[in-house]
Amino acid sequence: MNNIKNIKQKTQDEITKFKSNSQNSQNFQKQAEKYLPGGSSRGTAFFEPYPTYFNKGLGKYVYDVDGNKYLDFMINATSMILGHSHPKVVKAIQDQTAQGTAFSGPTESQIELAKILCNNIPSIDLIRFTNSGTEATMMAIRAARAFTKKSKLVKVEGGYHGSHEYVSVSVYPKKSDLKTSNIQSLLEYPGQPKSLKNDVLVIPYNNIAETKKILSENQKEIACLIIEPVVSQFGYLPGEKEYLKTVREITQKLNIVLIFDEIQSFRLSKSGAQGIMNISPDLTTFGKVIGGGTPIGAFGGNKKIMSQFDPTSDTFIQHSGTFNANPISMVAGKTVLENLNESDYSRMNRLGEKLRNNLSDLFDGLKIEAKITGIGSLFGVHFSNNEIRDYSSVINSNVEINKYFFLSLLNEGILLQSKFYGALNVFSDDSDINVLIDKTSKAAKSLL
Ligand SMILES: Cc1ncc(COP(=O)(O)O)c(C=O)c1O
Repeated sequence: MNNIKNIKQKTQDEITKFKSNSQNSQNFQKQAEKYLPGGSSRGTAFFEPYPTYFNKGLGKYVYDVDGNKYLDFMINATSMILGHSHPKVVKAIQDQTAQGTAFSGPTESQIELAKILCNNIPSIDLIRFTNSGTEATMMAIRAARAFTKKSKLVKVEGGYHGSHEYVSVSVYPKKSDLKTSNIQSLLEYPGQPKSLKNDVLVIPYNNIAETKKILSENQKEIACLIIEPVVSQFGYLPGEKEYLKTVREITQKLNIVLIFDEIQSFRLSKSGAQGIMNISPDLTTFGKVIGGGTPIGAFGGNKKIMSQFDPTSDTFIQHSGTFNANPISMVAGKTVLENLNESDYSRMNRLGEKLRNNLSDLFDGLKIEAKITGIGSLFGVHFSNNEIRDYSSVINSNVEINKYFFLSLLNEGILLQSKFYGALNVFSDDSDINVLIDKTSKAAKSLL
């Protein structure tokens, strides 16, 4: 990156500019800090110096409390695939609200959303709803343990599957703690039970040899492997074909339940990333888009495993939740999924391809070493000389530059995830791609 100059100073300049445009956000943040640690309830929504407070979203735009308008590529961590406040979603929620928002019994609305998901995804025989992706991965792991009568789980180094205990291992390891083989399971915070180091094994993504080794050596104790077919934290990096194929084959052979976390990647097609990649996991977890912008999670898959949640079965596993399958989330999710057709997916995916190519050409043209990751409507930018294929390559890129671009584009009216990752929505068009490229080009040139 030797042609990039003064990244610290340039980032500081963007922070100064950001502060001058966000007095109301700053005031809200000061108030929030009195009642909420750090002013927030959501780690990923925070960035320095303080997060932007939003008060309106319409289609592909969001508006902040200072009256600034943003073209939204963050779309609530990829979840608003139909844009903000889509009239059909608003109507569905309003109608349901008037009927009642929560009941102590099931409603027809959960059958309808379940039916869409079961019909569209060949690997899903049965499904259950939760209120978050975190709960979905937690329950999928529980299902796998009960089914196999084994208790260890395997996850990918640097993979994020929510905030519960069993997946809070080796999510954000430090560069200095990384190893190339015999990866250690690293706990995420002080006081976490030390037993997790034994219960949770960690594999490097896209590494067939290490994955095979760890799974085979511990097969008698491993209940499940939880993995994203497209790793969100790596800038939406799709797994290499041979790797995911091997993962499927070996888990099947060793009686290990394969859980695909499709909480973000489900947006790629009606049947998610697994549909595009033609791989059938045993269980899948969902969230984000299937709730139409309201709180949601779901887990589903193989009938034999999922039937354990049937209250009339002998091997019944308890799974409750006061707001599970609440009708608001059900009708919002159903409306979104019913309003996405094949041409919407292919248009978003084509635009995504164009955006990734244009970003790549832009940085090549400016001789800035950047690697563009992503698939379909998802994209990520890494400032690195190395190929991005696992956690180690992601963390060894120059993340200071990502911070600069995030702030610089925010100041230009473009909202991205703070790592310079993002997603498109049904309203995205060629002009949005051009705007993003133009503003990125302007920000990049001022670094040279
Ligand atoms: C891949 C993945 N799994 C799980 C989760 C957790 O979902 P939630 O935030 O709904 O708990 C997320 C959230 O960002 C995610 O990206």
